[in-house]
Amino acid sequence: MSNSTTRGQQLIDLIGKTPILPLYFSDVDRTVWCKCEFLNPSGSIKDRLAKTIIMDAEAKGLLHRDSILLECTSGNTGISFAMLGASRGYRVTIVMSVRASYERRCIIESFGAELILFDKPGYQHGIQITQQMQAENPNYFLPRQFENPLNALDHEHETAVELVAGCPAPIDAFVTGYGTGGTLAGCSRGLRQANPNVKIYAMEPAEAALLSGEEACCHWIEGIAGGFVPPLIRDIQLDGKIKVPSEQAMRMTKRLNREFGLLVGTSSGANVHAALEIARSLPPSATVATFLCDRAERYFSTRLFESSK
Ligand SMILES: Cc1ncc(COP(=O)(O)O)c(C=O)c1O
Repeated sequence: MSNSTTRGQQLIDLIGKTPILPLYFSDVDRTVWCKCEFLNPSGSIKDRLAKTIIMDAEAKGLLHRDSILLECTSGNTGISFAMLGASRGYRVTIVMSVRASYERRCIIESFGAELILFDKPGYQHGIQITQQMQAENPNYFLPRQFENPLNALDHEHETAVELVAGCPAPIDAFVTGYGTGGTLAGCSRGLRQANPNVKIYAMEPAEAALLSGEEACCHWIEGIAGGFVPPLIRDIQLDGKIKVPSEQAMRMTKRLNREFGLLVGTSSGANVHAALEIARSLPPSATVATFLCDRAERYFSTRLFESSK
């Protein structure tokens, strides 16, 4: 690419450094500290991963004018790569399940990216499609979000550091869900470096609590728990797992919408539900942190908005 170091740089600079909101739940007299990842430019935490992988590949000379970014994703990663591909000047092809919401497809196509949809549950089939495509055409560049260590490294050195700096006291407990596991793995390492006593919890849908040794079944918390334990979290040290039923995740998401004015997606509701459960087991002064991962507009056609009156 000719001007790859400057093209789209201002947009890249908008990624990260998101604010942290203390949400006070008066019914239980507890506060949860929420990092507002939905304020990233494409609307989700995944902008961080896309930025890091693209910039690393550019620095290593792995991207050129004919490169096509190709990734299998539940949607948010696809949106982030589509946005940065448009601004940075790369073609983008996204492989995703037909079950991903209609809005996410529209957003990806609006950025000019190509979509390939597959009709099998889980990510494994989509990952195979990308590998096959790259074997046939070396112009495809695979970010490999599920195994790329940069995914977690970035959260360790950026997101966790921002989280520590933005909370008024040392973080006592942290909880988040996992899709690729990059957020959970990286933040757990980064937060432990800042405070070795921090307790780290994984949130998972009660219907697909794989870390808790249960079978994966259908859940409605979009963006997390793709039916397998991702390699990035296989070795992390957890202090506990919090199972959140989809119904409870949706209920908390509605509370975030209506009591706090935060139009966020279901994984944010699930994260806050889990964080509140942890906070209730600790003194009211404890600092419990989590993420509001993405915006809700991409879920208008889903179950989350079926009964929103
Ligand atoms: C809405 C949402 N929440 C949470 C996550 C989990 O992030 P990670 O892939 O870092 O585990 C994702 C991942 O795509 C997501 O889209």
